[in-house]
Amino acid sequence: MASYTKAKIFYISIGFWLISGVVSYSGWSKHVLTILTGGSVTIPCHYDKKYTQQKKYWFSEIDKSKTYTNKTEENLSVIDHPDQSLFTVTMRNLQDKHTGHYYCVVETGEQPPINVIYEKQLKIQSAPDVSVVSSTVSGHEGGDISVQCLYSSEYQNDVKQWCRYKDQSCYTVGRTDTSQNLSVQISDDDGGRSFTVLMTGLRLTDSGWYFCSAGEAVSPVHLTVTEAEPGKEKDMSLRFCCYWF
Ligand SMILES: *[C@@H]1O[C@H](CO)[C@@H](O)[C@H](O)[C@H]1NC(C)=O
Ligand SMILES: *[C@@H]1O[C@H](CO)[C@@H](O)[C@H](O)[C@H]1NC(C)=O
Ligand SMILES: *[C@@H]1O[C@H](CO)[C@@H](O)[C@H](O)[C@H]1NC(C)=O
Repeated sequence: MASYTKAKIFYISIGFWLISGVVSYSGWSKHVLTILTGGSVTIPCHYDKKYTQQKKYWFSEIDKSKTYTNKTEENLSVIDHPDQSLFTVTMRNLQDKHTGHYYCVVETGEQPPINVIYEKQLKIQSAPDVSVVSSTVSGHEGGDISVQCLYSSEYQNDVKQWCRYKDQSCYTVGRTDTSQNLSVQISDDDGGRSFTVLMTGLRLTDSGWYFCSAGEAVSPVHLTVTEAEPGKEKDMSLRFCCYWF
């Protein structure tokens, strides 16, 4: 990739080791998270439900440090969410010295003892390759949300997608095959520097982690869907009822 030659580019590889002998998700190994120098990022680490009770940690290959879940430091938080079968890693104030390899690890207690689920890369640079206007969005059940994903011009001709981390389902700009849900619309904006994802008829189960991608570059987004405001829907139907009759 051309951008690899630019000055002031730092790389962090994130791996999810799958040493348990199961096939690895090679399709995800090329993903690159790009973060602004001095910026922060939250990365979801999904794990199999059967490991809910097991210890999990974030491993830095730079200083060989392990940060176990539910630890919060000034520039690093690793928080387990057993109800969602994932832990999140938030890194703040990212600088040159943070360049390197990192891994999400589950101590499975089995042999071999460490579980790797997938592998990806993260890079920090003065301008992100892909970014979102807001990395947390929320909507009500039955409502809509939209996410604008910005990408640098060198990704103009790459495949652009909106994907869900959990089940790896993706929606692709310009793809109209029937396997794609009509409740998700994804379109390139004029000017070729951004695309917009529109999710309609939100369900509570749509909550979770997604990412925008252009080529190999990804940017994570967290979606929260809350229950429809009580009263609001009822008011609507009442209004319909009475206008109609
Ligand atoms: C967090 O990052 C800032 C900016 O790089 C740095 O000054 C500070 O010492 C860091 N804090 C810790 C606890 O490492
Ligand atoms: C971490 O915190 C979550 C709640 O945020 C809790 O459910 C979980 O049991 C905690 N895990 C550990 C290892 O303390
Ligand atoms: C599409 O939406 C329906 C319900 O609206 C859901 O049952 C189905 O799983 C969705 N398909 C995909 C590929 O997300």
